Amino acid sequence: MSDMERLFENNRAWAIGKLKADPGFFDRLTAQQNPDFLWIGCADSRVPANEICGLDPGELFVHRNVANLVHPADMNCLAVLQYAVEFLKVKHIIVTGHYGCGGVRAAMRPEQLGLIDHWLRPIRDIYEKNRDDLDAIIDEYKRLNLMCELNVREQVINVAKTTIVQNAWSRGQPLKVHGWVYGISNGLVRDMECTVDGPERLEAIHRTLPSKP
Ligand code: CO
Repeated sequence: MSDMERLFENNRAWAIGKLKADPGFFDRLTAQQNPDFLWIGCADSRVPANEICGLDPGELFVHRNVANLVHPADMNCLAVLQYAVEFLKVKHIIVTGHYGCGGVRAAMRPEQLGLIDHWLRPIRDIYEKNRDDLDAIIDEYKRLNLMCELNVREQVINVAKTTIVQNAWSRGQPLKVHGWVYGISNGLVRDMECTVDGPERLEAIHRTLPSKP
């Protein structure tokens, strides 16, 4: 069996299994999706969002990129965020990093890799902001893992800084932004306890209101 045949075979078996367990499963999903959660995670193949949370199709809206970054002008991420918040009305946004992240590791090294260096640039800035704490850690892997945690905290704030999330809060829409780090070595997520559920934690310059017509 070729690599591709294996995928089709798996897919058929999966669809049959789902129908056996719940004959109405796909019919319900065809009608609509109604997820309560938006996951913003790393593209790493070892961090499968639905599987980690034990959620079925329809329960988790997902955006993934290298090193789970939320750039302020990334149209892809912003479009996902807007759709999730304004139309799907998710209640929770979970930014999930993971220990041993290759993207974070690349941004801690002095060599260039190419285009990806531009994408990863904000991680170098986070390093600089926390240089004293990071440089104090001798063990390279522990230093990387602290960076993975710091990166998640920063991206949670970046989500909160978007006008999409701030407008949801000013409308009174319940919305929490959480930061998790996933352990590839044990399969467990760790809550960084940096949840933001209103604009209060943002610096004044980042708190904005919609413009009046
Ligand atoms: Co990663």
